[in-house]
Amino acid sequence: MALYHKHKCIMPTDQSVGFMSRRKEVPPLIEPRPEILSLPPYHPGRPTGVTPAINLAANENAWGPSPRVATAWQSLMSSEAVARYPDMEGLVLKETLGRVWGVPAETLLLGTGSGHLIKCLTETYLRPGDGVVTVFPTFSLYRQNAEMMGGRLSWLPGDGHHVDFSKLPAVVEKAKPRMVFLCSPNNPTGDLAPPRVIEEILSVLGTDGLLVVDEAYADFATTRPELMGTIAEKRSLAVLRTLSKAYGLAGLRVGALVADPAVIEAVSRVREPFPVSAPALAMGAAAISDEEYRSEVVARVVQGRQRLERELSERGWNVNRGEANFVWTAPGSAGAAGRLKAELAARGILVRHGESFGAPDHLRVTVGTATEIDTFLSVLDSILREWGEQRE
Ligand SMILES: Cc1ncc(COP(=O)(O)O)c(C=O)c1O
Repeated sequence: MALYHKHKCIMPTDQSVGFMSRRKEVPPLIEPRPEILSLPPYHPGRPTGVTPAINLAANENAWGPSPRVATAWQSLMSSEAVARYPDMEGLVLKETLGRVWGVPAETLLLGTGSGHLIKCLTETYLRPGDGVVTVFPTFSLYRQNAEMMGGRLSWLPGDGHHVDFSKLPAVVEKAKPRMVFLCSPNNPTGDLAPPRVIEEILSVLGTDGLLVVDEAYADFATTRPELMGTIAEKRSLAVLRTLSKAYGLAGLRVGALVADPAVIEAVSRVREPFPVSAPALAMGAAAISDEEYRSEVVARVVQGRQRLERELSERGWNVNRGEANFVWTAPGSAGAAGRLKAELAARGILVRHGESFGAPDHLRVTVGTATEIDTFLSVLDSILREWGEQRE
């Protein structure tokens, strides 16, 4: 077995399986760029190799995709499409998305999930030392990708519970960034950025910067944001969308960037060829065309979210009333969030601890099916009861 010691890897020699093992030092390998070494790791909602009974940690769609997706899969498998490279631009999916979202196909670029497009955007626009503004707490990939390109992060400070977007334009004005990333509804707090704030940021940025609004959870908002339709007038605005959430295709990896054709052209220069597979293109188009199914899922999520908010508030937890498919909540006493996350996981239920967002007093609970919520609440209550008995 190799032993790792600081930067040196001490490898066993051929004779090491003997009475006295002799080890030989090998020189260290090429060093990664310093920007990479300081990057925090990405926290997936489900640790590798773990199959929980209930996963409420990754903001997935508990009902899965439209039944039309299975039909699209069957017809794809009976054709020769998987033996061929997919359409690199994904024209059919772009035209379908364009029709449903009311935007021209030339303002769309597809990626292997919207996370991939965040990376492509930073690779396209950021030079070492360029300023980037985002909010606290928020989705980790903005920081990760910005710092990977040598960008300098400034944050809208916050209490970790709620994001007050109204203070963001002043931060942008001061930092004079090249890019602003905001997530609306915000992951993990669920707060929606008011249209007025977006207007103000765009007027501060002018044409010297790009405002990226990540709308991964926009389908679940009670007032649906209309940003995509304003790209033609707001040329420094880029919107990210994903089929991983409301459309239930997280496993297929399809995301879209909606932006001015000049931005689309620039970003497509860094995007690798064929980022979206033939099955993802075909099933994406099938999912997006089933509006009835999407609105049914959204209605169930909103119902489940309201129930979770009510139930957790009744237990004395501090709940931020958000607009996404999850609930952001502080269970109260210090250290409770981390202990609860661990105890729930030991009983087969995954929720997200706010620690990875820099808010260790919080939990983020994805809205699951009614049965999943029943189980979550009943397991939670038995944990709280046991803790109460231990204290007595
Ligand atoms: C705010 C936000 N943006 C983007 C993504 C990435 O989504 P995907 O790469 O699956 O499209 C996520 C995933 O959870 C997210 O929370």
